Amino acid sequence: MFELHGKKAIVTGGGKGLCRAMAQALHDAGAEVAILGRSDNVFEAAEKIGSTETPAYAVKGDLEDTDGLQKLYGQCLKKLGGRVDILLNGAGIQFRAPAVTFPEQWWRRIMEVNLNSLFFLSQMAGETMLKQGYGRIINVASMCSFFGSTWIPAYTASKGAVAQLTKALSNEWAGQGVTVNAIAPGYMATKLTDDMKEKNPKQYEEISARIPAGRWGTPEDLQGIAVFLASDAAAYITGAVIPVDGGYLGK
Ligand SMILES: NC(=O)c1ccc[n+]([C@@H]2O[C@H](COP(=O)([O-])OP(=O)(O)OC[C@H]3O[C@@H](n4cnc5c(N)ncnc54)[C@H](O)[C@@H]3O)[C@@H](O)[C@H]2O)c1
Repeated sequence: MFELHGKKAIVTGGGKGLCRAMAQALHDAGAEVAILGRSDNVFEAAEKIGSTETPAYAVKGDLEDTDGLQKLYGQCLKKLGGRVDILLNGAGIQFRAPAVTFPEQWWRRIMEVNLNSLFFLSQMAGETMLKQGYGRIINVASMCSFFGSTWIPAYTASKGAVAQLTKALSNEWAGQGVTVNAIAPGYMATKLTDDMKEKNPKQYEEISARIPAGRWGTPEDLQGIAVFLASDAAAYITGAVIPVDGGYLGK
């Protein structure tokens, strides 16, 4: 039920952090993976993750460049032999500042990566998957899909939209074999969050004290859910935004 042999996946942001761990997990479960990201770490990730029997491929490109997305998607599709079963939309950025001084440029960049590229790639992969009659789209949402947080207005707006878009796409595609779900990671210790300790230590302490599991999450904590949502075991799960948060939201 949980195995992915013969499946082909695209993972954006898979060069490092949470999405690299999820790319690894999809591959370990049997999927060929194309890792799409903006830095050279995609090459190293593909080399480490791939094996002779089940290759992993690197595609380097900037998701902020909306005009280039079709080309990047085409490159992934070509490497995967013209099929894509799984799209894991994981790339994301975040900048932290009070709303009143939050730079316009930051707002636009965050929306471009976290929301716009996610929609356009889903649109492209959705078209391929609908023709195949099979597909799994997995978006990476956030705790900020549920609440507003502080000092990250653009990030919160983008992740709220990712949750809603997940439901909107699911409503259109679920009847044609394409499920669309989102994983909402809790507070995970990665590069994306490591500036909070320094910039907003009070918030860091408050968050740490509130996590029932007693620790921040790790990239490995997302591996099981990624494989599950990509697999046949999750065939009847769609339009869901699933927290993986050590109990944070339940508190
Ligand atoms: N770390 C957390 O606590 C946390 C919590 C909830 C959600 N998330 C989400 O998880 C996802 C991964 O976050 P992470 O913590 O691993 O962050 P990270 O910074 O470690 O990794 C982000 C990845 O996205 C890629 N990326 C960023 N901008 C890009 C662009 N313009 N074009 C192509 N690739 C680009 C980066 O190269 C990198 O591989 C993000 O969507 C993030 O919002 C993280």
